[in-house]
Amino acid sequence: MSSPNETWAPTSWRQKTIRQNPSWPDAAELAAVEGELRAQPPLVFAGEARDLISHLAAVADGKAFLLQAGDCAESFHDAAADSIRDKLKIILQMAVALTYASGVPVLKVGRIAGQFAKPRSEEFETQGDQVLDTFRGHIVNGEEFTAAARRPDARRLLAAYHQSASTLNLLRAFTKGGFAALSRVHQWNQEFVEGSPQGRHYAEVADDIERAVRFMRACGIDMARESSLSGVDFYTSHEALILPYEEALTRQDSLTGNWYDCSAHMLWIGDRTRHRDEAHVEFLRGVHNPLGIKVGPSTDADELIAILDTLNPQRIVGRITLISRMGHRTIETALAPLVQRVRDEGHPVVWACDPMHGNTIRADSGRKTRRFDDVLSEVKSFFEIHRSLDSWPGGLHIELTGDNVTECLGGGSDLNEADLETNYTSVCDPRLNASQSLDLAFQVSEFLQA
Ligand code: TRP
Ligand code: MN
Repeated sequence: MSSPNETWAPTSWRQKTIRQNPSWPDAAELAAVEGELRAQPPLVFAGEARDLISHLAAVADGKAFLLQAGDCAESFHDAAADSIRDKLKIILQMAVALTYASGVPVLKVGRIAGQFAKPRSEEFETQGDQVLDTFRGHIVNGEEFTAAARRPDARRLLAAYHQSASTLNLLRAFTKGGFAALSRVHQWNQEFVEGSPQGRHYAEVADDIERAVRFMRACGIDMARESSLSGVDFYTSHEALILPYEEALTRQDSLTGNWYDCSAHMLWIGDRTRHRDEAHVEFLRGVHNPLGIKVGPSTDADELIAILDTLNPQRIVGRITLISRMGHRTIETALAPLVQRVRDEGHPVVWACDPMHGNTIRADSGRKTRRFDDVLSEVKSFFEIHRSLDSWPGGLHIELTGDNVTECLGGGSDLNEADLETNYTSVCDPRLNASQSLDLAFQVSEFLQA
């Protein structure tokens, strides 16, 4: 059993049982790729991950709010600047509404620049009489149902690294180079409010923000010059699933001597890999990044406490974010006991709501989809349950894209099942499109203010 005192090394996960591990056909090639990755520069710096922990500590204390959002799975077919820009743009627009409504800073964390791997319930997929490896995300294989595409290809680890590096480079430029300026993002929100029927419902909030902006200007604040208004801090995160990749990007910080997984600022583990004595938990317990743990209807409270004891034995505030993904009905009974138990055990955590993964359904056509109303309903219950327990509903975890996709049902533009065929491009789960995402943020703003 892994006890926190047992020695940890970036490689110690290799002694443990591992799930969701692709069977790489060429061990020598994988080893060569790992060597190449170890020789590459880190994508993020340890000091940034530490800053993120201190911001998350403010969220845990009820003094800030977390917005974590981005693709279900990033795609190698979609590395274009436009799509990165549009995703960032939507996240920033949501953040403005949430900042205004909550009255506290909104911490912006993307599921981006590394979110390539997907856990799967089946190892193989059968079509006709052909049985092939399941699609595990572009860091492992291709989605086409051919033997060549589905073969796990270690070279993809390098491709994922390089796409992450260029994505992150663009994000850093956009967030500090004027694109993210508050006045500009507010302007986009006004265009959404004025330019679309669904936006019109939010005219009041937008007018309030407009007044606040005018007030700041009138007081002599030069919004372009003031650095707190002209840029944002933006952090990256992904599910830590492909451990050879994560290990190869793990580096010892020269300032503190601590290990950090420098593939992203924050990492999370899902329902399928959060087993205490197994490889993924073993790896994550030794890196000092902030960590997310998905918490679902099947999560056992004793087990959750044991995982928290393993991953955060020192109970560092901001280290752990529990991302609850219950489903809009189950949340009513499943969330409160866990919140109470974690509090009783004295574990400091951020509670965030993932209203996406518990609400996935199949349309008649067989397409995976989600109803906007179910998503909204889960968020609403999340807020109410936390309020009733005097606990801080700390954040939202959303799958979205800035593209005009038709993957989720409903929302302001009221997409129906037939519309799903129009522009369904996700390589994995259905995402909210730009206007559905804004719709969600403005609606959440309403009950944040309540
Ligand atoms: N820097 C502040 C923040 O991140 C204010 C800000 C500037 C902002 N641009 C923004 C907030 C865009 C949200 C979205 O909160
Ligand atoms: Mn997903």
